[in-house]
Amino acid sequence: MWSFPRIIAHRGGGTLAPENTLAALRCGLAHGFRGVEFDVMALPDGALVLMHDTELGRTVSGSGPVADQTFASLSAADAGAWFSAEFAGEPVPSFAQAAQFCIEHQLWMNVEIKPLPGTEVATGRWVAQACAGLPAGAVLLSSFSTEALRAAQAVAPNSARGLLVEPVPPDWHQQLDQLAAVSLHAQAGALTAAQASAVKRAGFGLMCYTVNDPAQARTLFDWGVDAICTDRLDLITPDFQ
Ligand code: G3P
Ligand code: MG
Repeated sequence: MWSFPRIIAHRGGGTLAPENTLAALRCGLAHGFRGVEFDVMALPDGALVLMHDTELGRTVSGSGPVADQTFASLSAADAGAWFSAEFAGEPVPSFAQAAQFCIEHQLWMNVEIKPLPGTEVATGRWVAQACAGLPAGAVLLSSFSTEALRAAQAVAPNSARGLLVEPVPPDWHQQLDQLAAVSLHAQAGALTAAQASAVKRAGFGLMCYTVNDPAQARTLFDWGVDAICTDRLDLITPDFQ
């Protein structure tokens, strides 16, 4: 069962703003989205930041592993200039800043726990703890890492958790049960109609990422998918049918 938004802005603002920044969240909100997905990583100093990659250079200025950064050093980096001059100087936000923005604007969060390799347990625990004080129903935690989700479950058993997968694995039901997860988050192109209906029959929520083609979105909803995450905020709008 899925009691969350149906259309979710991927990494905050999809293709319309630099990913995983406050500017991206503002963009999603400005386009009428009521739900956003973003990636949260823990730095070795324990700081939680919005970050997708394990290396600097693609979207955040600098080079080398994110694992070598502290919150202070990362705060000096530019997370917007790669996207366009308009966003130059946009910082890497802390999770606390992003969460505060979302709560203030009643923007529901799909917080993807994106651990640096080897930090799955600590990251899952810290993210879940950071979410524990947020209003009920404001957050759905998700991760490709079952270790991170188990750690989140241990410290925050009442947190809503979703398991991210690429193709749906044969033991999906068992994995969801073990994690006491509420939803499966499947790669859209790898999902079949039969899998979608099995997940729904079993009573779980089903979210698909990343859906940028309206025709594909329609097909997925016809299959019973509950929600999609999109980069194309301009093509797949919050009222998409
Ligand atoms: O949560 C859906 C999606 O964000 C998972 O993949 O690599 O874009 O974080 P990725
Ligand atoms: Mg993500």
